[in-house]
Amino acid sequence: MPRTEPIKAVRGVRDVIPSERPPWRAAQRSAAEVAERFGYQEIVTPIIEHAELIERAGEDTDAFAKELYSFVDRGERRIALRPEATAGIVRAYFERDLNQGPQPSRLYLMGPMFRYDRPQKGRYRQFFQLDVEAIGSASPALDAEVIEVASEWLHQVGLGDLRLELNTIGDSKCRPAYLERLKAYYQPLKARLSPESQHRLERNPLRLLDSKAEQDAPFKSEAPRITDHLCEECAAHWSTVRRLLDAAEIEYELNPHLVRGLDYYTRTVFELFPAGASGQQDALGGGGRYDGLAEAEGWPPTPAVGFASGLDRVTDLMSAKGEKVFARAAAEVVVLPEGELDVEAAEVARICRAVRSASVIYDAKSLTAKLRAADKLGARWVVMLTRDEASRRTARLRDMASREQTELPWVELPTRLA
Ligand code: HAM
Repeated sequence: MPRTEPIKAVRGVRDVIPSERPPWRAAQRSAAEVAERFGYQEIVTPIIEHAELIERAGEDTDAFAKELYSFVDRGERRIALRPEATAGIVRAYFERDLNQGPQPSRLYLMGPMFRYDRPQKGRYRQFFQLDVEAIGSASPALDAEVIEVASEWLHQVGLGDLRLELNTIGDSKCRPAYLERLKAYYQPLKARLSPESQHRLERNPLRLLDSKAEQDAPFKSEAPRITDHLCEECAAHWSTVRRLLDAAEIEYELNPHLVRGLDYYTRTVFELFPAGASGQQDALGGGGRYDGLAEAEGWPPTPAVGFASGLDRVTDLMSAKGEKVFARAAAEVVVLPEGELDVEAAEVARICRAVRSASVIYDAKSLTAKLRAADKLGARWVVMLTRDEASRRTARLRDMASREQTELPWVELPTRLA
């Protein structure tokens, strides 16, 4: 056999081992609980979609152009690993007739997303999102509602110290004229802009506003603001969203340079940061209204709004803050048989499982080593079994906290453990 290096995980992806799972479970449980409290129902969509669906959702977007994981399958179809959930959820909403039910359709999803980004802390190539969408209503109340869901959930997982940044980017009625103004402002400055921004000036001028390049910073403050150029409907929508957030006592900062990385947004856009953090890198979540996406996907025009939050960042932060999330025991009861009692030990564990989680340490080790292992598994009780006891169908039940120990028939275990 040729010797080879052990094969490690793919760059930019992570294993979440059992000891790291508690904050994930707490965050996911709480997300489902909060979303359902607001009347949102869980949807699961495939991880793979036609690459075209994703591309239609954001032709000019960096996330979609450079960062898409895609491949040609055996049937010569161009397939993409989803970089986000919104495009797929909108597809499912029409394809599975959710548009025929009560509107808006309130949906949430949790699952892995894939972006071929440069990996670093908080930025992974496979990451997990909580995604919340309200599809089929143009009401500004839904914009405020999804923000409230996000904020309520983050409070519940102990990350209530937040900064919510809010902006509007108008719609297809008022944005084109605004973009012309923006271009006219930046055109004479072109040579002094970063290469990325020079490129964006032609393709996606709105993104000039959220450039991170230092070189571009001096020009931003004087740039025309969309909030000064909204059409009547967008202006009314914008003021209602803010009024509703005020009524819900949700604090926000207006950021005229917030435009978001995806193309499909209209009107309200927002991002959530841990208080004190700066830079997009740290965003715990973001979203907005996307009234044009359904049409871009080839469906009837349908208004919608939503957000997504990165569970990796949320759980990293929960752990860093030492949020008290108690690790659940791997097993409440651990059965410790003498050697060659596998069949009997399995039966005892099966009996215990009627009332408690139970596992068996089969490997022949000393009893001391087995007790230590049971302790590491978080066991509250161990059930010790010798050959002699097994023949009498009895065992010794030991309470790990009090160290009390009693011999009893197997059939009595469930009553004693209940
Ligand atoms: P997004 O801003 O691209 O929006 O992503 C939302 C969140 O996902 C980010 O704020 C961040 O927490 C997390 N995230 C993004 N990329 C990564 C990464 N490479 N590693 C770790 N976490 C990441 C969307 O995806 C939109 N679909 C949100 C939306 C829903 N808009 C309307 N509905």
